[in-house]
Amino acid sequence: MRIIVGISGGIAAYKIPFLIRHLKKIGAEVKCIMTPSSIDFISPLVLSALSNEPVGIEFWNKETGEWNNHVHYGEWADLLVIAPATANTIAKLANGACDNLLLATYLSMRSKTLVVPAMDLDMYKHPTVLRNLEQLSKDGVHILPAESGELASGLVGEGRMAEPETIVGIIQTILAVEPVLLNKTVLITAGPTHEAIDPVRFIGNNSSGKMGFALAHRALQLGAKVILISGPTSCHLQHDALQLIHVTTAVEMFNAVQIHWKESQIGVFAAAVADFRPLKMENTKIKKSGDLLSLELTTNPDIIEWASTNKEDNQITVGFALETNNEKENALLKLSRKKMDVIILNSLNEKGAGFETDTNKISIFDSKGQHQEFSLKQKTEVARDIFKYINDYNQ
Ligand code: CTP
Repeated sequence: MRIIVGISGGIAAYKIPFLIRHLKKIGAEVKCIMTPSSIDFISPLVLSALSNEPVGIEFWNKETGEWNNHVHYGEWADLLVIAPATANTIAKLANGACDNLLLATYLSMRSKTLVVPAMDLDMYKHPTVLRNLEQLSKDGVHILPAESGELASGLVGEGRMAEPETIVGIIQTILAVEPVLLNKTVLITAGPTHEAIDPVRFIGNNSSGKMGFALAHRALQLGAKVILISGPTSCHLQHDALQLIHVTTAVEMFNAVQIHWKESQIGVFAAAVADFRPLKMENTKIKKSGDLLSLELTTNPDIIEWASTNKEDNQITVGFALETNNEKENALLKLSRKKMDVIILNSLNEKGAGFETDTNKISIFDSKGQHQEFSLKQKTEVARDIFKYINDYNQ
């Protein structure tokens, strides 16, 4: 479990060291992000010492001059827990404000968020706070309601932050995933490939790599060892059980797959491999001369087809088809032509589906003649559906 604990400026911040210790005890990796006002309530040094990680407060670290990249935080974590969440932070979260590192991280989160409110009883009952909490709940954020008891103001009532043990219990429930891929190795190809024409130009397909990286992230959550072979992309992923291999060309991707296929039980081929490469790469930049330029191209190896024809009984291959017309027919043809076990079809005709978006709409077909349609979802959710399908297929 990788958890970001986000602390906003409330007296209940004094309970956060206990929360971090509990989380570490159950084996979680923890990073803390503090709002600037929370450092009046608890020292960043305490949180850094307990989490064994630097604490993010500002958008950039004044000592090292480094940028605290909220996007990396959002990609890294399985869960963002905002505790204590003050009325001010809740209002900002509910309205998309982004004037500190914690709020920017919330907006960059790829996974879930849990908000643990803490404030005085009248504030907690105020219609604006209730409205903001309701909005967050509608946005898919988990809310752990405040408890009743003695408050810092001396008043007694609802508003106390839930105890660290309770927060840990909820975290375990939210993140409960059965490690169905434990002791399995999953090989994933992702991103485009670039085939050089000359030192400055290349042929390539449109692909952000987001789907492949989301799949890798999900497989890791399910307990797999993951070998992710990726073409050029701006996606990031780090994990002890991840072997990330960067490649540029289809031939390099093919070589890496040939090396690692034997040790894998599941191959998910999400890369948008360039079908052709220039027969010859020019050593110097091609200069313009005339209106026409002819390039001689040769076909690239079909990576999934190779894996499918070189698989043992305990291995399955899963491919993608991005189609613009006769989607289902083309996908089924591809499934049998490339001897895949499962094919995931995304149609370019669907709004929100495709290579540069964060969402995707898929249908899955398999070699047993089964078929399932899914609604438009975030790519992280699509990755969940795909692995659930693969797991059921393997039963
Ligand atoms: N694929 C691959 N190696 C290639 C080309 C494609 O492994 N050289 C994989 C992709 O990663 C994907 C599947 O094959 O999982 C289908 O890719 P697609 O580009 O749709 O297939 P093509 O064979 O290129 O077919 P088309 O004629 O539609 O371009």
